[in-house]
Amino acid sequence: MITLNVNGQPRQVDADPDTPLLYVLRDHLELNGAKFGCGMGQCGACTVMVDGEAIFSCITPISVLRDRQIKTIEGLGTTADPGPLQRAFIEEQAAQCGYCIPGMIMRAQALLEKKPSASEADIREALSPNLCRCGTHMRILRAVVRAASALQNTSSGNAKGASR
Ligand code: FES
Repeated sequence: MITLNVNGQPRQVDADPDTPLLYVLRDHLELNGAKFGCGMGQCGACTVMVDGEAIFSCITPISVLRDRQIKTIEGLGTTADPGPLQRAFIEEQAAQCGYCIPGMIMRAQALLEKKPSASEADIREALSPNLCRCGTHMRILRAVVRAASALQNTSSGNAKGASR
């Protein structure tokens, strides 16, 4: 049994320590936002945050995640009350099949928490590990630029204040 901190909550998990975080999120904790794409750290569909950094959950065993803060897209907002990035993706209609979008949003979240004033060039570079096979990159880019702009216009001026 291992305790993981997921979206601010301690979660007890009965799984082999070598189990990748992605499987634990999806199969044990019913957090299905992160997706299985390649399973080899090459597509970004499984991206979540650990201690503020975007990571590939498909190649990260839970054994290294004790006492770490794991954040998934479910921790950013809800359907009724989406977070700033989620809202921006809806407003820009930045999805076709949508499979890559949770990973894209989590990588963008990690960037904006570190650098709320991220430029378009910063966003392009930060999102480069995440692939979109539909070719929605320009809408995704516009959505992240929109969220960054919205966050800079809020009183807190950073993405952390908008996180849940
Ligand atoms: Fe993890 Fe592709 S499923 S990087």
